[in-house]
Amino acid sequence: MAEHSEAINAAKRAAGYHAADMVEDGMVLGMGTGSTVFYMMERLSGRIRDGLSVSGVPTSYQTAIRARENNIPLTTLDDNPMLDLAIDGADQVDPARCLIKGRGAAHTREKCVAAAAFQLIVVVDEAKIVKRLSGMVPIECIPFAATPVMNQLRSFGGVPRLRDGTKKDGPVITDNGNFIVDCRFDEIDNPTELEALIAMVPGVVESGLFTGFTDKTTVIVGNEKKCRVIT
Ligand code: A5P
Repeated sequence: MAEHSEAINAAKRAAGYHAADMVEDGMVLGMGTGSTVFYMMERLSGRIRDGLSVSGVPTSYQTAIRARENNIPLTTLDDNPMLDLAIDGADQVDPARCLIKGRGAAHTREKCVAAAAFQLIVVVDEAKIVKRLSGMVPIECIPFAATPVMNQLRSFGGVPRLRDGTKKDGPVITDNGNFIVDCRFDEIDNPTELEALIAMVPGVVESGLFTGFTDKTTVIVGNEKKCRVIT
């Protein structure tokens, strides 16, 4: 088990470092959330120490805190509504480069930076690559509408459940002040259609399905030895 997680961390590190090496001087970045992105930030921090000039829009409090620790200058979408590059992790990636994201409940802001970016670099380990998206899709919704949102998701064939906090009683509250509904779907035949369907439910903020960025997405798949790049 320990060996297994060491191998996964090495793969995440390789993917994160590879993405950080694709950053060019003067770029403004979108910085996703999660362990693979943190490796990217670790490497970027070293490059900044060596003279690289960049700034990044963080997609969560956690990423903002890590960026400060790594001396990565921060900016906002208000000051930089167009980004050169967004770098982010994912929970699943299918052959068309559609994604499921949101394990860390940061997918709403992650979708905003992905939309704002000229290019999206997705950093994952091999275990995230799937033939077809399936399983848990995180959906951020306003607390007021949680019950009707879950009823609608059931009518789409999903099995929704409100996400509980781990070191907090009751539901997780996102960085935007909302709830997360984790909705289990069996194999998702048409992720684009499902993303659009969920987006139309009143009270839904964003789902973790990312199907609209495939044309500008490059996937870096890390493994212990080297990276595979899918464009
Ligand atoms: C954050 O909400 C998520 O979308 C993450 O980007 C995703 O879960 C990948 O995280 P890891 O890189 O930690 O696996």
